[in-house]
Amino acid sequence: MEVFKAGTALLAFLFIWIKGGSSFVLEQNCGTRTPSEFAPKIKNGADTSVFANPWMVKINSERPCGGSLLTSRYVLTAAHCIFNSNMSVSLGEYEIQNPGKHCFLNGKCVPTAYKLNVDKKFVHRDFYNSKNDIALLRLESEVEFSDFVKPICLIVKNNFSFMPLSFNITGWGITKEEKLSRILQIATVGYLHKSLCNQKWEEMRLDGSQLCAGDLKQGNDSCAGDSGGPLSSSITLADGSVRAFQFGIISKGSHFCSGVGIYTNVEHFRDWIVDVIRKN
Ligand SMILES: *[C@@H]1O[C@H](CO)[C@@H](O)[C@H](O)[C@H]1NC(C)=O
Ligand SMILES: *[C@@H]1O[C@H](CO)[C@@H](O)[C@H](O)[C@H]1NC(C)=O
Ligand SMILES: *[C@@H]1O[C@H](CO)[C@@H](O)[C@H](O)[C@H]1NC(C)=O
Ligand SMILES: *[C@@H]1O[C@H](CO)[C@@H](O)[C@H](O)[C@H]1NC(C)=O
Repeated sequence: MEVFKAGTALLAFLFIWIKGGSSFVLEQNCGTRTPSEFAPKIKNGADTSVFANPWMVKINSERPCGGSLLTSRYVLTAAHCIFNSNMSVSLGEYEIQNPGKHCFLNGKCVPTAYKLNVDKKFVHRDFYNSKNDIALLRLESEVEFSDFVKPICLIVKNNFSFMPLSFNITGWGITKEEKLSRILQIATVGYLHKSLCNQKWEEMRLDGSQLCAGDLKQGNDSCAGDSGGPLSSSITLADGSVRAFQFGIISKGSHFCSGVGIYTNVEHFRDWIVDVIRKN
C-alpha cells in the first residue's frame, strides 16, 4: 500500500495523476465548485452555499436519503436507501420546498435541479446489518454537468490510500430543530478511532469497510434523512485548485445524532464501484 499523509508529496502526486489524465480518479473533471458571491443542519450544521455541493443528490424513495454523483450516469448511496419501488433522483437540488430552482437575495431565480428516473439499482450483495452499506444507482439517461450538477472525485488508483482528519457531510436530514431541513445543510466532522464507534454499538465491531467520524465535544453529526450522502474532504492540489474527494457514505448513527456516526469506507469498495460502472 502506498500510504500518504497530507503534505507536499501527496499534493504533487494527486496533481500529477489528475492532470495526467490517468486512472487516478473516476471522472477527470470532478470535485470543483463554482465560486459564489452569495454566501448564505444536519446537527450543528449550517446552510450550504448554492454552488458548494453540485455532486449532492436527493434520492426520492420510500425513505428520504442523500447520494452523490460519481459520473454522468451513476449515483453512489447507501444500500439501506434502496427499495423495490420505482426510484428517482433530484440533481442540483438545494431548497426542497422550492424544488427545481433557487432564488437569490436579489430576487433573481435560476433553475438548478432536475429529476431523473433510476433505471437500474446495484446493491452490494453482502449488505447486511449495516455492513457493506453501499449501492449504485444508474440513471435512465446521462446528466449534463453545469454549475449546479457536477461529479465528486473518487480515487480509483489501486494501492493508493489516503485518509484526511476532517470531513464535510451534507444532507437534508433532521436538524437541531428536530425536523427535516428545507435547505441543504453542511457540517464538519472529524475522523474518530473505530473503538469510539464500537463503544457505542457493541454489536457492530467496525472493520476496514467502515469509518467512524463525528465530533465528541460539539456533537456535529449526521442524522435521520442524511443517509447515503457523502463524507468528503477538500484537497488543494499543487496548482492551487481545490477538489472535493469522497471518502465515506453516511450509513448509521445513534437515535439522538449525538456526535458519533458510522460511515461506509468508500476506499474499501473501490473495485466494486469501478466494476459495476465499467460492466454496465
Ligand atoms: C415504474 O417504472 C416502470 C418503468 O419505467 C414503469 O413501466 C412503471 O409504470 C412504473 N411504476 C409505477 C408504479 O410508477
Ligand atoms: C498492489 O500491492 C500488491 C501487494 O503489495 C501487489 O501484489 C500488487 O501488484 C499491487 N498492485 C498494483 C496495481 O500496484
Ligand atoms: C463542529 O462544528 C463547528 C461549528 O461549525 C466547527 O467549528 C468544528 O470544527 C466542528 N468540529 C469538527 C470536529 O470538525
Ligand atoms: C467543506 O466545504 C467547504 C465549502 O462548502 C470547503 O471550503 C471546506 O474546505 C470543506 N471542508 C473540508 C474539511 O473538506
